[in-house]
Amino acid sequence: MQNPQIVVSDVQKVFRTQERDVVALKDINLTIKQGEFVCLLGPSGCGKSTLLNAIAGFSLPSSGSIQVDGQAVTAPGPERGMVFQEYALFPWMTVAQNVAFGLEVKGMSKGAMAERVDSLLDKLHLKDFRNRFPKDLSGGMRQRVAIARVLAMDSPIMLMDEPFGALDALTRRNLQDELLRIWAEFGKTIIFVTHSIEESIYLADRIVVMTYRPGTVKRDHRVAIPRHRDPSCAEFNELKRELGSLVMEEQQRHAAAEMKLAAVD
Ligand SMILES: Nc1ncnc2c1ncn2[C@@H]1O[C@H](COP(=O)(O)OP(=O)(O)OP(=O)(O)O)[C@@H](O)[C@H]1O
Ligand SMILES: [Mg+2]
Repeated sequence: MQNPQIVVSDVQKVFRTQERDVVALKDINLTIKQGEFVCLLGPSGCGKSTLLNAIAGFSLPSSGSIQVDGQAVTAPGPERGMVFQEYALFPWMTVAQNVAFGLEVKGMSKGAMAERVDSLLDKLHLKDFRNRFPKDLSGGMRQRVAIARVLAMDSPIMLMDEPFGALDALTRRNLQDELLRIWAEFGKTIIFVTHSIEESIYLADRIVVMTYRPGTVKRDHRVAIPRHRDPSCAEFNELKRELGSLVMEEQQRHAAAEMKLAAVD
């Protein structure tokens, strides 16, 4: 049997603010195998980013532990690449320089670096834009550059926080297809945060639905629909309804909590 690659055990995260303590995550237990595509799904404020940031090593849990290949996560590491929602590109660097950035830091030779960058720009249809700056690109292209940058580092794990949230529907679908292709071709383990039910069903092997405050695992669902998935098929819509009602319950809890807070303030 394959060894699990990411193990989240009894993770809890409390944010202490001046007014109150916020329990963002509670009793999170997850095992993610190498090569799995997992979506974290839930309404705003349920702790998706908090969990992803904990796995990335940006913000550690208050208690519990996270292990990647048997090693405790205590800081960010090169085996875990992050793609953010807001295209985190360097505006003063060209597309090629942005993709090469991590390789330069790693100390890769100029020749090897150019080869890897060229091949990725080619794969992600960015070749003609290699000397452009981020400001000259569309949102979809910028997100492609961000994905190419993580792929350049050859991180076996890709952590993606609502990476396609700001894109129009068509661009989003194109990038979802591209991501599935990359996932299959490079054998990456992907943890992908989204609040779109349809996006999670389209992409994931497994959908982890989270509850709103404290963030816990409400449902860990394995998607049995074969790929390439057709969002108009009956199975897809059945699952969409089922997960939709779970997310709706949490959204209502969110709305109720906001009302209560507004009344206190
Ligand atoms: N640095 C912080 N200090 C205080 N509270 C925080 C902090 N970061 C997050 N929180 C709180 O923790 C909870 C979880 O936040 P998180 O950003 O993980 O949610 P999310 O599911 O990613 O939401 P969204 O879909 O809006 O991105 C929220 O209630 C949020 O207000
Ligand atoms: Mg978030």
